[in-house]
Amino acid sequence: MEFTNLGKTNEKISRIGLGAWQFSDAWGVTEYNIAKQVVSSSIELGINLIDTAMVYGRGMSESFLGKALRELNIERSSVFIVTKIPGEFLSYDDVFKAVDRSLERLQTDYIDALLAHWPPVWHNHPTCEYMKAFERLVELGKIRYIGLSDYPPELAEAARYCLSKNDLQIMEIRYNLVERQAEKEIIPYVESSEMTMLAWSPLAKAAILGKYSMEEINNFRDVRRNDAVFYPENYKQILKLADVIKEIAKKYDKTPSQVALNWLMNYSKNIVPIPGAKSKEQAIENAGSVGWKLSYSDWRKIDEISKSIKFTYVNF
Ligand SMILES: NC(=O)c1ccc[n+]([C@@H]2O[C@H](COP(=O)([O-])OP(=O)(O)OC[C@H]3O[C@@H](n4cnc5c(N)ncnc54)[C@H](OP(=O)(O)O)[C@@H]3O)[C@@H](O)[C@H]2O)c1
Repeated sequence: MEFTNLGKTNEKISRIGLGAWQFSDAWGVTEYNIAKQVVSSSIELGINLIDTAMVYGRGMSESFLGKALRELNIERSSVFIVTKIPGEFLSYDDVFKAVDRSLERLQTDYIDALLAHWPPVWHNHPTCEYMKAFERLVELGKIRYIGLSDYPPELAEAARYCLSKNDLQIMEIRYNLVERQAEKEIIPYVESSEMTMLAWSPLAKAAILGKYSMEEINNFRDVRRNDAVFYPENYKQILKLADVIKEIAKKYDKTPSQVALNWLMNYSKNIVPIPGAKSKEQAIENAGSVGWKLSYSDWRKIDEISKSIKFTYVNF
């Protein structure tokens, strides 16, 4: 495994992480033993950053992760746990209450990075109110680093203004070969501010692997049902990109997921993809996206096709 620094710190995080939203009814891994295997194989291959959130399975993901780390006797300091607090839980007191519950589920006495999962949109929780709560939790030793998820740079700057002794180290955002909006503002922002960008949905929920037929995507009943990557209008075009990814993967003796993840990491040193895995085989495969590099010409070939996709979110 390769490692990189977390933001401006000397903390070493693996070049690729593991996303744990899969341990929830949204994705279907509700059997603890499968989750345990995913965690165990990822850690065996050197992945130390695991991304979870309070809302994933309403605590199921954090509970499975905490239980697995405990049963596998993983030394606490050898893993870097990122968890997230939803925008609705961001009043000063709720931040403490929610973190207490996360610590319990994760069976640990500290969280490595706490992120606001999304900005509070339904309630007026002032940015400084929850940033001050986060900072107090750092002072009390309950969280080590602070970050934001799904925030625009303007709001991230507002959050940084509220912090007295800490800085943001992580921005977590959607980024994959068909949804590249982060290249406009977020990636330049994390690069100039020396933050780490955790790229979520780095495989576009498997759409860019081209493993599903048009008929299969029409029958999705889980979280993929309403995802734009599976709108037939988008997916038809994505299949063409998937063919190119498959062809390039063969050339390197790699798999499509390894090529797709390698492409993202090449875009910027600040990007750490956090693919989710539903089996230990997928986790092992994804860890193999590190340790080699696509040539510039193959990187560009994928770049051009990816840019030619006319992606839309409007479906009615
Ligand atoms: N901050 C946020 O707002 C936010 C939002 C979403 C996700 N996230 C985080 O990002 C992580 C990943 O994003 P995501 O869950 O949207 O999806 P993703 O990583 O783009 O795709 C994961 C899915 O792709 C398939 N897959 C994974 N590895 C594979 C492989 N090697 N070969 C073939 N298929 C493979 C699996 O589904 P199938 O086997 O069913 O095809 C898996 O569930 C989440 O776990 C979560 O931690 C954060």
